[in-house]
Amino acid sequence: MANATATAGMVSPHVPGMHAGGRDMARLGMVRCWRRARRGKVMCAAPPSSVNGDVLMGNDVSKPRRLPRVVGMGSKLIGCGSAVPKFEISNDDMAEIVETSDEWISVRTGIHKRRVLTGEESVKGLAIEAGKKALEMAHVEPDEVDLVILCTSTPDDLFGTGAQVHTALGCKNAWAFDATAACSGFLVGLITATRFIKGGGYKNVLVIGADSLSRYVDWTDRGTCILFGDGAGAVLVQATAAEEDGFLGFDVHSDGQGYRHLNAKTSVGGTEEVIPSTNGSINFPPKKPAFSFIQMNGKEVFRFAVSSVPRSIVASLEEAGLTNSDIDWLLLHQANWRIIDAVATRLQIPSEKIISNLANYGNTSAASIPLALDEAVRGGKVKGGDIIAASGFGAGLTWGSAIMRWQ
Ligand code: COA
Repeated sequence: MANATATAGMVSPHVPGMHAGGRDMARLGMVRCWRRARRGKVMCAAPPSSVNGDVLMGNDVSKPRRLPRVVGMGSKLIGCGSAVPKFEISNDDMAEIVETSDEWISVRTGIHKRRVLTGEESVKGLAIEAGKKALEMAHVEPDEVDLVILCTSTPDDLFGTGAQVHTALGCKNAWAFDATAACSGFLVGLITATRFIKGGGYKNVLVIGADSLSRYVDWTDRGTCILFGDGAGAVLVQATAAEEDGFLGFDVHSDGQGYRHLNAKTSVGGTEEVIPSTNGSINFPPKKPAFSFIQMNGKEVFRFAVSSVPRSIVASLEEAGLTNSDIDWLLLHQANWRIIDAVATRLQIPSEKIISNLANYGNTSAASIPLALDEAVRGGKVKGGDIIAASGFGAGLTWGSAIMRWQ
């Protein structure tokens, strides 16, 4: 298993004895060890370099870490929850808004409908609902939570919404922050949570992915507006003994060169009238800032996803000491069924091992992985001990993957 070599000889702190804050845990059981050597066996169907010669990104080849890896506590996923807005828009409804059809959208994307925030609904509201359900499933009280990570690129407040979510949930012993990494956001939040557990002495971390891309979609652009929906999903990540670590391997990347293919830029224009006291600067004081609509080159994003995601999953599997045949469930960011299918084909993962609810919700950005996980767990698909290969990818560009065990 992932850390079998790494944890040999380390002291495993007694998890049940930890208090909610658990800060003193950091002093216990912390050893450093070198990343273990690759095992030299063929891990997957295709080695990373042969996945696709047509590489868009420049830095997505996984490299050994620069420093020894800190090995402390393990982490496990023990609860999940989700929430979606009430208002549903079908593909036929979309055809009333832009020139499109149910057939075009279904065939090109696999999406049939999506949910969109309306009225009093908010990202915060969805995040609270999803987080509450995850805590209930985990049988963790709000005041036992040490950290809330709200993964979102569309907070209700530019300065972040995580603190409001943690306060509304009653997580009075926790602190919170927002993590922004678009459709990779949940993966980034999840990995961050395990690091706070591993090296920070935290016991319970609530990771919530919540987004409302419908707010940033140009509803006259048929190339983008058909893809996105709103929602939230959450998981409770809990500390466990190192030898029971359920977070087996991960791999993350970013590349600003690909930014041009998918973005929603801020625009801050200068004032039209020059104010004398600004020494004639035409850019001061700034006008009210705004975000542009989502701009996307669909073909490039598609190419990026189907080439980078398999490579990332292979790297995570390798770190976990597993192969593709060990994967019980492939859980990708729900962007497009053709992307999911292409990645599964490249990794030789059969379709019955794919978790997907894209048809009902479209691309819900940072919410999509935990939203699909929650449905699969509550629907009885994913069971305790199952190995999940998850991967997020999107604007930034950012992408990554993680191999983890459910409960
Ligand atoms: N309905 C009908 N026709 C549409 C359409 C729609 N909603 N959107 C685009 N078209 C048209 C185009 O105008 C074009 O017409 P033309 O040939 O007359 O010029 C034609 O369909 C093909 O467009 P194209 O953009 O080449 O289609 P595509 O096969 O690349 O599919 C996407 C478009 C967006 C579905 C696809 O590129 C995709 O899913 N990319 C990944 C996007 C993504 O996942 N982004 C989020 C990542 S987190």
